[in-house]
Amino acid sequence: MADAQGQRRNAGLEVGNACLAEPSADSVVAVDLWISATELGDKFRARGCHDQIVALQLDANRDLPFGEDWFDAIFCMQGFHSFGGSVEFVRYLLLYLREGGRLCIAGSCFSEEFTPNTLPEVYRWADDWDTEYSRYHSPPWWREIFERCELVDVLECSELEDGLVMWEDEFLYRGERASWSGTWLAEHRWLAEHIFYGRDHHPYLTHFIATVEKRSGTSRRRPSRG
Ligand SMILES: C[S@@+](CC[C@H](N)C(=O)[O-])C[C@H]1O[C@@H](n2cnc3c(N)ncnc32)[C@H](O)[C@@H]1O
Repeated sequence: MADAQGQRRNAGLEVGNACLAEPSADSVVAVDLWISATELGDKFRARGCHDQIVALQLDANRDLPFGEDWFDAIFCMQGFHSFGGSVEFVRYLLLYLREGGRLCIAGSCFSEEFTPNTLPEVYRWADDWDTEYSRYHSPPWWREIFERCELVDVLECSELEDGLVMWEDEFLYRGERASWSGTWLAEHRWLAEHIFYGRDHHPYLTHFIATVEKRSGTSRRRPSRG
């Protein structure tokens, strides 16, 4: 992507209300399904970065309205598991990333995979089971998705060192916001049980980060000559 002076500019895509505090790209498009472009735009305005970011309300699974190879980087925080956990989707999203560009995702996960037979009983009762847990996967599972795409080199795909502690922090944050009301505690007891269980057992709730780089020679649009 070049500006009027022919200088190369960085273009970034944030998917799923990623909302980086300080976008490092010169221009960023942020797409989210549930949050309106107005609400997302207001968030960027409040952070003082609205002149760098265009907000769009879009389903990332549908035809994204961008040119192929357009973005230098694609970022998704805590949302990819809900819409992107397949080789097909990753291959599709990579259409919009230039060769050498990087896709970085981060979010919640389990430390390892399990089957319905090996799933510990404690996780079977969870308000979050259908909406979130059932889509959580382990870092090795995500690595395999990227490797099976055959379009990227996996630079990192691992559990964060404080992945479990981040769950504890989130619980404390949510509890404080609810003033530790009895109602809130009763409704969220299951989450505390899961976090405590995970301190001594596998699989446990944690977080991961993955960064992959699009290989050269993989774009469908080849650079034009001359
Ligand atoms: C759990 S929220 C994460 C919000 C934020 N990134 C964070 O870390 O707090 C997941 C976000 O993914 C978005 N999302 C879910 N499915 C999507 C899709 N198909 N396309 C684009 N965004 C989607 C939702 O609208 C939601 O804002």
